[in-house]
Amino acid sequence: MKARNPRNRVILEPVLASASMRRLDAILRTVAEKEVTVTLVGETGSGKEVLARRVHELSARRGAPFVPINCAAIPESLFESELFGHEKGAFTGADSLMRGKVEAASGGTLFLDEIGDMPLQAQAKLLRFLESRRFMRVGGTAKVNVDVRLVCATLQPLEDLVKAGQFRADLYYRIQGVVLRVPPLRERPADLVPLIEQFLVERASKHGVKPPRFTRAAFAALRAHSWPGNVRELRNLVELMCLLRQAKVVRLHDLPLPIRGELRADPAPAEVLEVSLAEPLDDTIDKILRAAVELERGNRSRAARRLGVGLRTIQRRLGAQA
Ligand SMILES: Nc1ncnc2c1ncn2[C@@H]1O[C@H](COP(=O)(O)OP(=O)(O)OP(=O)(O)O)[C@@H](O)[C@H]1O
Ligand SMILES: [Mg+2]
Repeated sequence: MKARNPRNRVILEPVLASASMRRLDAILRTVAEKEVTVTLVGETGSGKEVLARRVHELSARRGAPFVPINCAAIPESLFESELFGHEKGAFTGADSLMRGKVEAASGGTLFLDEIGDMPLQAQAKLLRFLESRRFMRVGGTAKVNVDVRLVCATLQPLEDLVKAGQFRADLYYRIQGVVLRVPPLRERPADLVPLIEQFLVERASKHGVKPPRFTRAAFAALRAHSWPGNVRELRNLVELMCLLRQAKVVRLHDLPLPIRGELRADPAPAEVLEVSLAEPLDDTIDKILRAAVELERGNRSRAARRLGVGLRTIQRRLGAQA
């Protein structure tokens, strides 16, 4: 499904084709309308931010802002003002009033990405805000009321971080709403083809090029790969192939080594056929015909077109055999 954003760029819906992602989406749809806090746990690149945005888009808050904060990227000393803003003159360098992310998300959704990396001091401030829904800007005296919905993401389960003393137990229980595991890409092979198709369209149009096609051997390598970087790794690969192999064919040897390396038995690229002049010509012709039929997955008409021969030639020479 396609939608258009205000700048008229095509925005594609996330791919949720596999059974596990469809189940996850069904839960997201149910909880989106509720005000419950959603925490998404999953490996890097598995789509946590995509799904956090989806919760927002499926909720009644969709017209209000979705504001992400990457908790791993903010220095500890700046955390409080990043979250809650500061008044003019609150500290050296604070030469004007700055509204924080919490205020920016007013009426909408605040996405706390990598919440496990939030410094303990900031966790205490966040807890106080969640309990009262009120906060003070740094250097301020007046309380500000804000209505936000919280969605969190974490690589590691938060209970592990609580046990390790890196996450406050009281905050953990306060945000403990619905915890959803986002499966890694290797556990949902049914998403691979639709993701590749979507990224080919999206990346090729972004770069203004024609998308390439993958040979069967190259495709087998993509299937065999374990995708430690998950959907992000796949998207980057497709983008690279769009740039390097535009409108051409991606063969096994065009793929980066980590991806083609995991395929144990290298199937010979189907289009390259070993023929020998020592063989009788009849055998060689049959071999070429059979290879073309195999390449076209048994479709003899397409095999004939590929070779520029009549379909009857194939029927006559190969008979009923494939
Ligand atoms: N289901 C999906 N359909 C389409 N694109 C997806 C899907 N899941 C992820 N992506 C794409 O993959 C990339 C990584 O996704 P995202 O940023 O949501 O991952 P993440 O889990 O937040 O990763 P990290 O832990 O590294 O922050 C993005 O470019 C995103 O658009
Ligand atoms: Mg993320």
